[in-house]
Amino acid sequence: MRHDHITSAKQLSRGDIETVLDRAREIAADPSSYADRHAGALLGLLFFEPSTRTKMSFSAAIKRLGGDVVDMGPVEASSVKKGESLADTVRVVEGYADALVLRHPSEGSAQMASEFVDVPLINGGDGAGQHPTQTLLDLYTIREAAGLDDLTIGIMGDLKYGRTVHSLAYALTNFETSQYFISPESLRLPQNVRYDLDEEGATVEEHTELDPVLSDLDVLYITRIQKERFPDESEYRKVAGQYQIDTTTLDAASDDLTVMHPLPRVDEIDHDVDETSHAQYFQQAHNGVPVRMALLDLLLGGNQ
Ligand code: NCD
Repeated sequence: MRHDHITSAKQLSRGDIETVLDRAREIAADPSSYADRHAGALLGLLFFEPSTRTKMSFSAAIKRLGGDVVDMGPVEASSVKKGESLADTVRVVEGYADALVLRHPSEGSAQMASEFVDVPLINGGDGAGQHPTQTLLDLYTIREAAGLDDLTIGIMGDLKYGRTVHSLAYALTNFETSQYFISPESLRLPQNVRYDLDEEGATVEEHTELDPVLSDLDVLYITRIQKERFPDESEYRKVAGQYQIDTTTLDAASDDLTVMHPLPRVDEIDHDVDETSHAQYFQQAHNGVPVRMALLDLLLGGNQ
């Protein structure tokens, strides 16, 4: 891979994606052969927003490559509380680590921060912007379950604030996919994302209901309404609880439908779906470790 920083899924070509996913598959097949690959490497974790999966799977990934983490810890206990700027924080922490993962509430923060550092900086989610490593594990999961070409995917829920959606939508333009976006009017895909997809010649439809398209789908990717991003809680309440699925909803789906969710779920997927063969969301979360191992391996010089 020729990228130093991974800030947006827009920068990932089909070749880049396949390189990461192929490496992840090799790692998943024989993790122990990678155990000392990056002995002594340190990954700096800068999480300015809550995280379970992204932070823990990055930690697991670097440790399974023989490295370790240096973690800024909670924002409240860091010098950010003393008024330190993000640019200064990353300039300091790059001296402590071989690569950085940044999660931050401001859209564009990862791109900005990357301009201040020489070590690879990975965007672990920038506000409602992008979450490119989630996309890599989403693509890995889709490829293993359904293949990435000739695919019809429904992406449903909070398409406006859902950064995993924005990254996935861009990355899928590298493949022969039809993307059906299903959301309330108020949470449609941002116009700039839709514009970019059209520029890429992507096959895109927007819908407000799942039912008319469900039987066409190979993959249904469901997202949480991103409550924390609503400027006004009453706007959240208007859409909360919409777009839930249960096993009855899935009666109309193909037997091979793969149901995905970046997690955490709130009430979008009834727990009865967990027991069906459609449910891939826990496997999807687990795939975060080999995929992040593959990405770190490539960024830390695993090509040699
Ligand atoms: C997502 C995120 O942080 O954007 N979580 C994750 O990384 N798996 C999705 C979400 O919070 O809804």
